[in-house]
Amino acid sequence: MTGPAALVRAQSQTAITNAEIPHSAASARQSAEDLSALGKRIFHDTPNEAKLYVGARLACNSCHLNDGTTPYAAPMIGIAPLFPEFSQRAKRMISLKDRIDECFIRSENGRPLPENGKDMAAMIAYIESLSPQKDGGTGSSGRGLIKLPALNGNPQRGEAIYATKCAACHGADGAGVGSTMPPLWGPESFNDGAGMYGIENMAAFVVKNMPPTSPGSPEAVGLARVLPSSLTPQQAFDVSSYIHTKPRPKYNPRFNKY
Ligand code: HEC
Ligand code: HEC
Repeated sequence: MTGPAALVRAQSQTAITNAEIPHSAASARQSAEDLSALGKRIFHDTPNEAKLYVGARLACNSCHLNDGTTPYAAPMIGIAPLFPEFSQRAKRMISLKDRIDECFIRSENGRPLPENGKDMAAMIAYIESLSPQKDGGTGSSGRGLIKLPALNGNPQRGEAIYATKCAACHGADGAGVGSTMPPLWGPESFNDGAGMYGIENMAAFVVKNMPPTSPGSPEAVGLARVLPSSLTPQQAFDVSSYIHTKPRPKYNPRFNKY
């Protein structure tokens, strides 16, 4: 059967199937959806939605752009089935919960979520919702950050780039503005144990994603057309090395498990 008849039949089957779901299973599915929606809210507005565990004025979404769906902005798509995974940083197998806590402790300059609490369950539910195949899927394309050749950044040149291409949003003092423009250094930024810390990592994030209005140089992302304010890899290293001359919070060794 094809065409409209098939559609009608498929719809009526769906209706029957839904009706047949016992109440408890339907409400379990509903609460799984609610949990994932809560996880998305925490991801999007972490300093307000998970206040107790956050020291920085940064949401997960400040780096994992578009709620964790942008390639090469360390997306969450397809990553859930890849855990547990060996961590070079921790030198052991880590769970997805451990990995989330690493970002709470380092990128958010905060503290770990209670392991079995609702907030952690919500984060997991949201991230799993972005991995349709739960049983060893293919993983994400565009995982992590792009690979750049290691260049030497020049902080003097970086200062000039910062003034013309970043300061309008992130502030001349690097402190950003409110909840819309995140800080790049200073007391409300990520700490020196974070994945964004390190000139090469930040350069890789920046060359692909910043400024948000015109990211990506042709060398970096293979685009034929390039907007005038896009950065080259060298400029991304320069501006990142300038940002790395500035102060930021220290990683708290009390959390060395992560
Ligand atoms: C300051 C930027 C920043 C913030 C804020 C941040 N992260 Fe991250 N996160 C990173 C970077 C950088 C990586 C590592 C990317 C790589 O693999 O090179 C990462 C990696 C991850 C990974 C592993 C991704 C993978 O491919 O294995 C998870 C999960 C994660 N972060 C969750 C979170 C959550 C949840 C939050 C909010 C509580 C958060 N992050 C906040 C920068 C950040
Ligand atoms: C038009 C405004 C704008 C400009 C210009 C801009 N950014 Fe951003 N930047 C943002 C926003 C907004 C975010 C957070 C992502 C979000 O909320 O969608 C961000 C996130 C970041 C992050 C990760 C989060 C953090 O605070 O550590 C870094 C690093 C960053 N920008 C660096 C730069 C650099 C370097 C430049 C200049 C080359 C730049 N940005 C230019 C708006 C801007």
